[in-house]
Amino acid sequence: MNGLFITIEGPDGAGKTTVLNELYPRLQMIANSEIVKTREPGGVMIAEKIRQIILNPEHQQMDERTEALLYAAARRQHLVEVILPALNAGKIVICDRFVDSSLTYQGAGRRIGMKEIAQINEFATEGLTPDFTLYLDVDSDTGLRRIHRSRTQEIDRLDLEGLEFHQRVRHAYLKLAEENPARIHRIDAKASLQEVVDSSFSAIVEANPKYFKRGE
Ligand code: TYD
Repeated sequence: MNGLFITIEGPDGAGKTTVLNELYPRLQMIANSEIVKTREPGGVMIAEKIRQIILNPEHQQMDERTEALLYAAARRQHLVEVILPALNAGKIVICDRFVDSSLTYQGAGRRIGMKEIAQINEFATEGLTPDFTLYLDVDSDTGLRRIHRSRTQEIDRLDLEGLEFHQRVRHAYLKLAEENPARIHRIDAKASLQEVVDSSFSAIVEANPKYFKRGE
């Protein structure tokens, strides 16, 4: 396996998806190999069906461990069908959310415990860890305000959680970033979109010089 595995993470309302859409064409212009932009569940049919079960607002009775196992199952299928083949072909994979989302949302948000979530995800991923993670950091008030103001899509089951849930998620992200300084790069996502995109771009290129030609 000689590709590069990058993930992008952050609490709801951090703007990950918008930032990634802006970043992708800029990175592709200077990349030494093809970039595969994906997101869990990434259009993989089985994973997509699992995700519909998780996020359906009617499923209020879902047990939190069931939720964690379903995320891990969807992740496994996406990994096998999309991420691993791309990495094995030497491509650069940029994935919108990965194991860190489960550690923070299920481990801390749902209070299952980050160690427990790490264990089931170790099984699901066979230990595959991103080479580099961009963490878009936003405080929970701002994040929640953004999702309720600008969401064009429907509000999903996790968006319905209150402020305290989202605060636990954010604190867990900050803890992960502190514990993994070599892998996780924190970006202040309260800045303007252009500033966030520019600093994300520089962070990715500088941390992975073998994969990108310097100077656009
Ligand atoms: P997603 O569809 O990626 O939406 P967005 O990133 O645009 O917010 O994720 C939907 C929700 O699922 C989001 O609130 C985060 C949550 N989530 C988890 O709780 N655990 C996970 O492992 C993943 C991947 C997502």
